[in-house]
Parts: sequence; structure tokens; C-alpha cells
Amino acid sequence: MSDHEYVPSSKFGKWFNDRLPLLSLASHLTDYPTPKNLNYWWTFGGILTFCLITQIVTGLTLAMHYIAHADMAFESVEHIMRDVNYGWLIRYIHANGASMFFLAVYIHIFRSLFYGSYKSPREIIWIIGIIIYLLMMAAAFMGYVLPWGQMSFWGATVITNLFSAIPLVGEGIVNWLWGGYSVDNPTLTRFFTLHYLIPFLILGLVVLHIWALHVPGNNNPVGIDVKKPSKDTVPFHPYIVIKDGFALLMFMIVFAFFVFYSPNILGHADNYIEANPMVTPAHIVPEWYLLPFYAILRSVPDKLMGVVAMLSAILILAALPWLDTSKIRSAVFRPLYKQFYWILVVDVLVLGYVGAMPAEGLYLLIARVATAYYFIHFLIILPVLGFKEKTIPLPLSITEPVLGGMPMASAVKKKESLN
Ligand code: HEM
Repeated sequence: MSDHEYVPSSKFGKWFNDRLPLLSLASHLTDYPTPKNLNYWWTFGGILTFCLITQIVTGLTLAMHYIAHADMAFESVEHIMRDVNYGWLIRYIHANGASMFFLAVYIHIFRSLFYGSYKSPREIIWIIGIIIYLLMMAAAFMGYVLPWGQMSFWGATVITNLFSAIPLVGEGIVNWLWGGYSVDNPTLTRFFTLHYLIPFLILGLVVLHIWALHVPGNNNPVGIDVKKPSKDTVPFHPYIVIKDGFALLMFMIVFAFFVFYSPNILGHADNYIEANPMVTPAHIVPEWYLLPFYAILRSVPDKLMGVVAMLSAILILAALPWLDTSKIRSAVFRPLYKQFYWILVVDVLVLGYVGAMPAEGLYLLIARVATAYYFIHFLIILPVLGFKEKTIPLPLSITEPVLGGMPMASAVKKKESLN
């Protein structure tokens, strides 16, 4: 938080600001003291904001030409691709934008895991993040149904059918979701409605996410609190604005590569075949960003327990600030946690891989081991590690490692010997 009171220079500015302090807010945002040791992993919050806005703008444009009807949806998408001016570009940005959004969010989440950004006092920022992530998954899943291709139809059928595993009321819930007795026109129209709504809910949550961030301020790579704002921080503008802007440009190059050179590489060819309830595709697979959870779902033999495991895999993250018992935030000072962190990264990648493979033989075995490990990491390793791990001494301030290389353990030792 900036500690000075903003006073607009013009008379009109003062009059306006006294009634609606928008200028004070803008001044707070530009002056916001940011730890000066933030690395490029901290640029992904800004990149995510860009992704969200891009999805909303391209989505609104697509909605002007898309027809949410089971008889016309597929053709209306082809019409956008062929006849609407730059329709192909808007659609490819929106479709690949979903993948880029998830790529950025996974980096953002794993950054938080590495540097312990979810720990006190940032638990609420983290939990709002989990809700955003859940909504992103819902929006992406429903968006994929809209072109009404084979994968749209069968993906929707498989996922909505999961609810039938709930005892007694399951069947009723599935019919209620469908608006009938199979995935059909009412399902498509309600998915379109919700797909349109959710990004705006996410937008509202992002405001809360950043508001909650501005209360304690950013975490940073060494994970210790700002001691002297004048020494440990820089104002958001121009320092972070320029750095975030540069990172965003790099990100846009990768984004543009997919849009212009490989626009369909992340999608499934079957979705260019119109939905047909009489023909089931050989393999029904979700988009890449949902694969780890799909693997967890299929690794459990019982349908209901599979659904419970899949949901728990996400919800367990909300309890993370309390499951991780270590007081030290950054993995830089936690040698054992750092190793388990990387094992978790590999575990999630393996889950993603087996999620794309048939659920049989060796793939199924690997999926089961990787699922078990995922839960062991959060429920056993993290709580125990906090008590057992011998951590590396922390630097005395953020400035120290910025100016003097890595933490001056010698200074800490000297201080300890004086005590
Ligand atoms: C639409 C999606 C999201 C947007 C636009 C967004 C935006 C931001 C921004 C701008 C920041 C500050 C800069 C930074 O640390 O990178 C931030 C920080 C943070 N975000 Fe997100 N975020 C999103 C999703 C998530 C999700 C899904 C999670 C976790 C599940 C999450 C967890 C966090 C945490 C813990 C911080 C604090 C980091 C720190 O203090 O250093 N965010 N977010």
C-alpha cells in the first residue's frame, strides 16, 4: 500500500476525486510498492489478465455470428471460418487462447507452489485463485461443446454422465443438466448461456484476487517480508509495467505461433466432424489442460470414487496453506521441499500423458501410481516435511540477495552467534 494521500492537481480532478476516488485508486496502483527481486515468473499474473480480456473480446465477437442451436451450431462455426471477415482469426485466437490461458495459469500456480505464495498472509488470494481455476475449467469444457463436433458431443456426454454415479439422485441430476434425456439442443443452449456468463464471474473474482494481493503485497523469490519499503521495493510504474510488458510480448509470440502456424494442433480432428449421436469416436479425450484430472478420474475403478478423487485433487489445493506446515515460504531455502516439488511437477506431467492414453494395461497402472503419489504429496509429505526439514538460513532482507548474490548465510550465522 502506498502511504501517501493522493491529491489531484486540477480543480476538476479534486472535485471528481472527492466524490469518486478513482484517481486515488489509479495512483495507488501505479505507486504500488513491488518487491524489487521479483523474477519473470511473477509476470504471469499480468499475462493472465491479458488472456482473460482476449477471451472476452474474441468471445463477444464470435457470439455475434454463432448460432446456439443443435441444427445450426456446427455450420455457423464453418460460416465464421469461411465467410465472416477475419472470422478464422477471431476463432483461432479464441480456441488457442483457451490453451494459452491454461498454460499461463499452470505456470502461475506452480510459481505459487515453488515460492510458497499460498502461505500466510496470502491464503485468500490463493483460495480465490482456486475458484477462478475451477470456473476456467467449467468455461473451457462448455466452450468446447459449442462447435457441436463429435468431440463436443461425446465429451459432454461422458462428463455430464459422471453425475449419474451419485446414489439415488444421480440420474435425476443428469437429466436436469441435459434438459432432457440426452445431450441435445437444450443442453447446447444452456452451455452457451453459462459459457457466456462465466468469464464475467472470473473477471469479478480477478478484481478480488488483486485486491486481496494489495493488502499484504507481493510475495517474492526469497519469500521473506518487505522490511524497509524504501529499500526493498520499487514502484509498480514504470518498473513492473515495463517488465510485464516485455514478458507479455514474448508470450504473444508463442501465442501467435500457434494461431498462425499450427492453429489446430492442440485440438482434436474429430471435432471437424459434426456431432452424431449414432457414432461414438474411438477415443474420447478432453483438451490437454484437463488430461491430468481425466487420468485421476479413470484410475479409480469405481465411477463414484473416481469422481470424488478428481474433485478432491482440486479441492485439496484449497487446504494447502494449512497442509504445508513449514514456516519458510520459498523453496530456495527448503532443499527437501524443492526435490519433492520437482517430483510433483513430473507426476502431474505423467498424469497428463496417461490421461491421453487408453485406460488399460501399463497406462492404467502408471495412472494409479501417479494418482496415489499426487495425494501422498499433499496429505503426507508436505505436513511431515514442515517438521522434519532442515532449512537454509534466510537472508536478513530482500535487498541483500539482490545486491550481494545469494543469501548471506555468513551474516545470519554471525548474528546467531551474537545472540
Ligand atoms: C484469470 C486468472 C488469474 C488472473 C488474471 C490472476 C492474476 C494475478 C495477478 C495480476 C497477480 C499479481 C502478479 C503475480 O503474482 O503474477 C496474481 C498473484 C497471485 N495469484 Fe493469480 N491470477 C489468476 C489465477 C490464479 C490461480 C488459478 C491461482 C491459484 C490457484 C492464483 C494464485 C495467485 C497467488 C497465490 C498470487 C500471489 C503471488 C504473490 O504474492 O507473489 N492465481 N494473480
